[in-house]
Amino acid sequence: MSISPTKVRLCALADLTDGEARGFRVSEFDPKVIVVRRRGRLHAYLDSCPHYRPGTPMAWKRDAYLNGQGTRLACHSHGAEFDIETGECVIGPCLGQSLTRVDVQIDREGGVEAILNVYGEEIA
Ligand code: FES
Repeated sequence: MSISPTKVRLCALADLTDGEARGFRVSEFDPKVIVVRRRGRLHAYLDSCPHYRPGTPMAWKRDAYLNGQGTRLACHSHGAEFDIETGECVIGPCLGQSLTRVDVQIDREGGVEAILNVYGEEIA
């Protein structure tokens, strides 16, 4: 079994408004990837709440990943809230646990790329 990082283009940077969070489904990869643009920086996590079983989605409707004030990521199942910069749960039933960070970068054309680890068997 090997791990190979794969770059996947999610959207154009211009499509993300500062203070906004969006979820992206990446083919052959589950769960979605959440990207938040905040104060000129991008933060990305798997859409998988650590309170429940892996893969539990956090939004109650499309792209509803932030709390009412837009200050934290939120899981709407049981009210957990997560620091946008660190992914750590700061309110709710999974205090001290964290979302799984996804590395992102801006490509030459101004696109937002996620760098995902794909697990697979090497074929000789
Ligand atoms: S599943 Fe997210 S807070 Fe319970």
